[in-house]
Amino acid sequence: MSGLTIFFVIYAYVAITVFILGFLYRIWKFGRTPAPLKIAQTPAPTSGGGVVGRMILEVGVFKSLLKSNRIIWLFGYMFHIGLFLALLKHFRFFFASGPGWIAYITTFEIYAGLIMLFGLIMLFVLRLVVDRTAFISVMNDYLLLILLAGIAATGLIIKHFSRTNLTTVKEFVLGIVSFNPQEMPTEVMFIIHISLVFLLFIYFPFSKLMHSGGVFFSPTRNQVDNPRERRWVNPWGKAPESIEIASNMTQDEG
Ligand code: HEM
Repeated sequence: MSGLTIFFVIYAYVAITVFILGFLYRIWKFGRTPAPLKIAQTPAPTSGGGVVGRMILEVGVFKSLLKSNRIIWLFGYMFHIGLFLALLKHFRFFFASGPGWIAYITTFEIYAGLIMLFGLIMLFVLRLVVDRTAFISVMNDYLLLILLAGIAATGLIIKHFSRTNLTTVKEFVLGIVSFNPQEMPTEVMFIIHISLVFLLFIYFPFSKLMHSGGVFFSPTRNQVDNPRERRWVNPWGKAPESIEIASNMTQDEG
């Protein structure tokens, strides 16, 4: 096994481990964060089913962004749709024989990478030229867009200009997934693509990309608007336990 392969196998497992554990930890933290008040953003659904519908619109068409800023919505949506289609196409690297429906869907995909890259470039430009967006942008915002654009650009270069042997890519990926490492492809553009991807995996749990999981925990979106029908009691406000804890406290603790 070459030095290059050894390096990338270790890099892959570190990246995947940080990503999975980091993601789960952040979700666990989101889940445990108290939501002591009813703060559903109105007009809000008044039933559980309505909340599910609201979430579907939020995740599927970014409804609140659409209502608040159409330009950011347009480019943000382009980026996410492009990303979604490009990632669907990547499934073929992870399965010895991919599910038929994915092969079917991806026959419609021609411009995924381009749409993704264009959306990212425009989001970057907006951050530079729109005063109020520039004012609240920090270095992380720019670097993240550059990282994602770098992944999309190298993917597109591989696809259109500097072909990589996809059979060796698939062998390498399947080797990682099945804990039976295989040789790393040696094409430079692929090495850059995958290096950036692993960097993204490592950075993901620490970054604002966690909004992908966090959106489901947003109280302004996931609460039912029923404070008039049902009294909202925050979890630690339940009487018996808290009274017990309080009565067990010594004067010092109190
Ligand atoms: C283990 C992970 C990955 C591997 C092995 C991989 C590999 C590849 C390869 C070999 C191509 C060229 C495809 C072709 O020639 O048809 C490609 C394209 C591409 N990749 Fe990745 N990639 C990975 C992860 C990602 C991720 C996480 C992203 C996005 C954040 C991404 C974005 C893209 C894009 C946008 C293209 C252009 C594809 C197109 O337009 O069809 N890749 N990738």
